[in-house]
Amino acid sequence: MADHAYREPSRSPSSGDVRPKPENSRSLSRQVAVVTGASSGIGTAIATALAAAGASVIVNHRPNPRSAAEADAVVEAIRRAGDTASPFPADVTDEAQVEAMAEAAVERYGALDIMVANAGIEQAAPIEEMSLAAWRQVIDVNLTGAFLSARAAARRFLSQGLRPDVSRAAGKIIFTSSVHEFIPWAFQANYAASKGGVMLLMKSLAQELAPRRIRVNSVAPGAIRTPINADAWQSDEARDALLELIPYGRIGAPDDVGRAVAWLASDDADYIVGTSLVADGGMSLYPSFRGAG
Ligand code: BGC
Repeated sequence: MADHAYREPSRSPSSGDVRPKPENSRSLSRQVAVVTGASSGIGTAIATALAAAGASVIVNHRPNPRSAAEADAVVEAIRRAGDTASPFPADVTDEAQVEAMAEAAVERYGALDIMVANAGIEQAAPIEEMSLAAWRQVIDVNLTGAFLSARAAARRFLSQGLRPDVSRAAGKIIFTSSVHEFIPWAFQANYAASKGGVMLLMKSLAQELAPRRIRVNSVAPGAIRTPINADAWQSDEARDALLELIPYGRIGAPDDVGRAVAWLASDDADYIVGTSLVADGGMSLYPSFRGAG
């Protein structure tokens, strides 16, 4: 793929809005990350937060012109902040493209330390109307895509070995799961099944890879204001109904998840292995039981 030949543009000190940051002072300095589905929503926030913490970030996007343009804008914003990122087109359900993406991280930045398997979709339908295609697409992107991304990363982590000057772990895999890895979700059976699958994929890989010093965890967001759930917050009525489900009284911002992932990826979280970090403003606390039941 032509993208392999990508070269990080040299930063001219005179290009006003780019401020180089001191190396080694940040929690992910000299680390290299891939974030799948990073051209919008939570993925963009994760890529931005990892870059702000010092990582060089591959901003993965779907191989189509619209996603490519969105990813370019994300990369541009990260660079304007003085951080390091570049785009990579890959369909996370395509084995060869995912392998090429992991390889691109090594070619561009010299290593791979962090894989955030974030790409996800929804295709809601009542079960009697849910097409096989809608079932398969959601399982393919959310679960098979997570598997392929994790496997590609694990392969690089294992061949690369520990980089003790960079991190206490030989690699970190972080899945973007959901509160729906444990909260059932009517009309979204495919989505909830995919996220339940991600939960045990994460835990099984965490158990398997921990002895090899690879940390595997998930972040499990609740309702975060992104395009995927626009119907749930765009109208006043929908927003009020959604807020009833969130004890903390606000809809999450993508940054809430970005910062959680940057922490999970850092050595500050070195003893966190096989955990889903729930970032949901209390959505999973059964808020309807407050004063009832
Ligand atoms: C879904 C959102 C939903 C949230 C809480 C997420 O995993 O993608 O659409 O708002 O869970 O239900």
